[in-house]
Amino acid sequence: MNVLILGSGGREHALARKIAQSPDCDHLFIAPGNAGTGREGTNLRVNPEDFDAVAEAVRAHSIDLLLVGPEAPLVKGIRDYFEALPEFEALRIIGPGKAGAQLEGSKDFAKAFMARHGIPTARYGTFTAGDLAEAESFLETFEPPYVLKADGLAGGKGVLIIDNLNEARLELRAMLTEAKFGAASSKVVIEAFLDGIEVSVFALTDGTDFVLLPEAKDYKRIGEGDTGLNTGGMGAVSPVPFYDAAFAEKVRTRIVEPTVRGLAAENIPYVGFIFFGLINVDGDPFVIEYNVRMGDPESEAVMPRLASDLGELLTAAADGRLAEASASFDPRHAATVMTVSGGYPEGYEKGKKISGLNIPGDAFVFHAGTALQAGEVCTSGGRVIAVTAMGQDLKEALKKAYERAETLEYEGMYYRKDIGAEFADGLT
Ligand code: AMP
Ligand code: GLY
Repeated sequence: MNVLILGSGGREHALARKIAQSPDCDHLFIAPGNAGTGREGTNLRVNPEDFDAVAEAVRAHSIDLLLVGPEAPLVKGIRDYFEALPEFEALRIIGPGKAGAQLEGSKDFAKAFMARHGIPTARYGTFTAGDLAEAESFLETFEPPYVLKADGLAGGKGVLIIDNLNEARLELRAMLTEAKFGAASSKVVIEAFLDGIEVSVFALTDGTDFVLLPEAKDYKRIGEGDTGLNTGGMGAVSPVPFYDAAFAEKVRTRIVEPTVRGLAAENIPYVGFIFFGLINVDGDPFVIEYNVRMGDPESEAVMPRLASDLGELLTAAADGRLAEASASFDPRHAATVMTVSGGYPEGYEKGKKISGLNIPGDAFVFHAGTALQAGEVCTSGGRVIAVTAMGQDLKEALKKAYERAETLEYEGMYYRKDIGAEFADGLT
């Protein structure tokens, strides 16, 4: 079969590499891809949010399976677009339709969905500009820190966690009445702060059955010790040491099963990945957020641990045959270190030549923000390269990932040196 992956980050490179290994995959295309995905398949100059252009690519390259990497095309309704066109009846699409994508596209929808299905999550209320006074009183019912969330997609920036009540009030007003996050904050979710350690869990579902992929933990802050601004993700580890069999069972029965059943009960067809952003509060899992796609950089840690054929799993999901499928994993630990551009997540320069990419070694070098310029691989984004290594334990995986990351070079390169350190004693 011919496969088209939409997206251009480290997640898409990790997915591309895994799908390229599938015996079922004849030709692999990535749109728009990056310098790394160009080595796994053919990059196409197509914007994933330009559905007519995607359709043209699907036609031109006889695509059988379309895997949507990022959330934006899903929330915009790429599946609904293709389903409305009879000529694409046989096209397998991985990613939910507009209705299912609301799990990520609207925090209010996600919270109400969880409430309807008894899925554990923080206490919340949703407000618009018309109910500012009510929103402020509701805010005052919480202890600090205060959690404010723009309802819609805000490029990962729409969540504010604020210690001071007055500041929280001001931000709440800015979100609701001054469109701080544009239309995304015309509705705001106010919710209780949950204190615990986060973990990302991934299910691939056909809408009835599901398979779970290995869990991972990502590191979102730019600075060591989880300090500084939020980023798209600075590294990941998989497995996650506290994610033992008892916790995994709670996640399955309290969260994953009710979510998949809830979607079916509400007649929301769902073929694709569900990413559960969870928090472990004293041994019990709570949902912080849903995403309707794989995580980044979690994919860069999870995909190398997936022993099963991803092409086969995706086909089974699209054909509603996941009940017969199972996924097997490499028991080793994976550690991913993200190198970024100097200045990221604020302003940074692009177009810096990257060297050290082709040094052979026992690690995966996934491209995140890279592009070819006059035949040379250069930086083209904030997150640049994700280096993943495997080890018998986390310590070994981290050691190998850092050794490989050190061989990379570009002007302004930065990476956190403490990925996974909380779980790996004696590591600095
Ligand atoms: P989100 O965009 O929903 O992933 O939120 C971004 C980050 O904010 C999460 O990864 C958490 O670290 C944090 N966060 C969101 N909601 C809460 C909450 N209710 N309690 C504690 N931390 C939260
Ligand atoms: N790593 C978090 C995300 O992909 O949203």
